[in-house]
Amino acid sequence: MTSLLIRGGTVVNADHAFVADVLTQDGKIVAVGSQLTAPSGATTIDAGGQYVMPGGIDPHTHMQLPFMGTVTMDDFFSGTAAALAGGTTSIIDFVIPNPQQPLMEAYQTWRGWAEKSASDYGFHVAITWWDESVKRDMGRLVQQEGVNSFKHFMAYKNAIMCDDETLVNSFQRALELGAMPTVHAENGELVYLLQSEVAARGIRGPEGHPLSRPPSVEGEAANRAIAIAEVLNVPIYVVHVSCMEAADAIARARARGQRVYGEVLAGHLVVDDSVYRHPDFATAAAHVMSPPFRAKGHQEALWRGLQAGHLHTTATDHCTFCAAQKAVGKEDFAKIPNGTGGVEERLAVLWDAGVNSGRLTPSEFVAITSANTAKLFNIYPQKGCVAVGADADLVVWDPSGSKTLSAKTQHSKGDFNIFEGRCVTGIPSHTISQGELVYVQGDLRARAGAGRYIKRPAFGANFSAAKRRADALAPSPVQR
Ligand code: URP
Ligand code: ZN
Ligand code: ZN
Repeated sequence: MTSLLIRGGTVVNADHAFVADVLTQDGKIVAVGSQLTAPSGATTIDAGGQYVMPGGIDPHTHMQLPFMGTVTMDDFFSGTAAALAGGTTSIIDFVIPNPQQPLMEAYQTWRGWAEKSASDYGFHVAITWWDESVKRDMGRLVQQEGVNSFKHFMAYKNAIMCDDETLVNSFQRALELGAMPTVHAENGELVYLLQSEVAARGIRGPEGHPLSRPPSVEGEAANRAIAIAEVLNVPIYVVHVSCMEAADAIARARARGQRVYGEVLAGHLVVDDSVYRHPDFATAAAHVMSPPFRAKGHQEALWRGLQAGHLHTTATDHCTFCAAQKAVGKEDFAKIPNGTGGVEERLAVLWDAGVNSGRLTPSEFVAITSANTAKLFNIYPQKGCVAVGADADLVVWDPSGSKTLSAKTQHSKGDFNIFEGRCVTGIPSHTISQGELVYVQGDLRARAGAGRYIKRPAFGANFSAAKRRADALAPSPVQR
């Protein structure tokens, strides 16, 4: 029986913060209160002066992803180990079937790859094509496998891009099943056209990447996906919102009463598009990801969205490629594998840039790094909450500890860090996963295979407001 007593910290949940001890036993939180006594054999942690928060949940990672002709550096062990070192105790990764590949086959493949995970994990499943078998397998995934979200890439033409017909069919099916459709919002046709136009102007380097994916390309796709979801009356979650055009689309829809949710990447909040003009190809290429880093003004829009509650979760899109992999696009920016890291740094970057700056309270930090994801993907309060009965996934947070983020000291296998040189104040002192100490003041004790697959049940009857749709379709008095 493993037992852990975390003494004297300030427990921070999304709704309030209070001084309390936390006792865990066999992977669960069994008591939260004052003056708790440690059972014999329990390990005690002194959390005086520190915060005790639910472990981070990163709703958007790509470990061991085969993409753009190569495979990411981090597999499910190295990636989740890095996550634990940064205080993130769960990830939701993506099963991405090739077009025409049966969904269940791809799902089983990813489940196999993920067996070595050191932290708990789940999967969104991408819909990259459509036929009756896809429709049927979406049902199996929801009803038997605990998948309650499906991803749609509106970009990456001639690869995994989803056209409007597939979007509509899949959104409709997700609604029937009580599953959340999610979108990568970029108009893939426009990206394809702009890539060739930029190349025709003689721009072949990484500076061409943001030119081929301007904010309006993201704004168009976000508005389109939101409009489709509105007609079908299904909620929608927009991943990696990077610009004010997409953030505004979400805010407008929410103001109309539509259930639309937005995710922001730590990188998009603090890194700007000047990185693509770096004279060194490797440095500029290392930042190539989609949607690209944006001009600084967009960062302010994203922060405001998080503060106002129009944007809900933070993620990393952790998808690491090394310099040799990025070099494939030396003569053509469109061939540079898209992706950057950050799963280890997300919490520290958000605390430093969000809480220390006064933009976020510690409770708001917990909301956007853990609780909101748990709620939106239906694993709350098992995850995302420090409360009796919840999983003992915790981070003890030292608000005065500091470190300089660097590829030299990161645990990810990637050879680059998009936050390189950033000095952050507020870092994890301890990470606890399933009641086990997996990170203790610099000592990472991640164990391959310790992570569990977490089933996420379908949403219930109130998932969509079907009545409103019926009302909307009824003829107006003037037409009658
Ligand atoms: O550039 C990115 N984001 N790579 C990973 C795939 C995706 O679009 O999420
Ligand atoms: Zn994406
Ligand atoms: Zn992604």
